[in-house]
Amino acid sequence: MKQENLTRRNFLATAGVAALATSLAPGAEETSKGKALKILGIACSPRKGMTTAKAVQAALDAAKSVDARITVELIDLGGLSIAGWSPAIPKDDFDVILPKLKDPQLGGLIIASPSYFRSLSSLCKAFIERCMPLREDAMLLANKPVGALAVGGNRNGGQELVIEQILMAMLSYGMVPVGGKSPAMLGGTLWNTKDDVSQDESGLQSARLLGTHVAEVALKLFKNP
Ligand SMILES: Cc1cc2nc3c(=O)[nH]c(=O)nc-3n(C[C@H](O)[C@H](O)[C@H](O)COP(=O)(O)O)c2cc1C
Repeated sequence: MKQENLTRRNFLATAGVAALATSLAPGAEETSKGKALKILGIACSPRKGMTTAKAVQAALDAAKSVDARITVELIDLGGLSIAGWSPAIPKDDFDVILPKLKDPQLGGLIIASPSYFRSLSSLCKAFIERCMPLREDAMLLANKPVGALAVGGNRNGGQELVIEQILMAMLSYGMVPVGGKSPAMLGGTLWNTKDDVSQDESGLQSARLLGTHVAEVALKLFKNP
């Protein structure tokens, strides 16, 4: 009898989950723990796959390890053609990126730039400017966390200035700026020596702390589509 009740309960529980799954909005993936959310990492160096991309990948790996609901994707802008905003924007590679930013599963962003003259790269600025349609389109990025990281050729090469510039700009989209955890309070700050960040353990740790924090805040803020 006891066994029968248990089996019936299991059946009802399974049926309940199935009913929930069929009621999900199209595209809303379900994990055993709830709806999946995606964190996108944007690597804004013109050099594809180099230190900025590696740094943001470290942040994404840490974000993914926070919870089974988190999925991550690196968008490496290196080699892509993305013009800054103008009244007549030419057709370029941003068209491929825009749908990923409009995805209802988007839980947060980690934007990464090399430090160029103590400032964000022009590619990073162009990316930020081209997010304008997301602002016009019901403030689609609003209330989602954004973290930033920067890689410089010098230990003190303006990384923190770059992070501030990115986070300040993303406030215009209503995003919620998120830093790392102590001691990486502002975000990820990495030092490239000989085109390599793998030796900069404290820099990589700042990227991981950032990824973890963005993921935690994304889980708290994520609204079901
Ligand atoms: C135009 C230019 C300006 C740079 N300015 C700085 C700088 O102000 N501070 C710094 O630390 N590194 C500077 N660097 C070095 C880059 O930030 C560093 O090499 C970075 O890791 C490049 O990222 P990537 O490997 O993803 O291309 C500069 C590099 C270039 C090409």
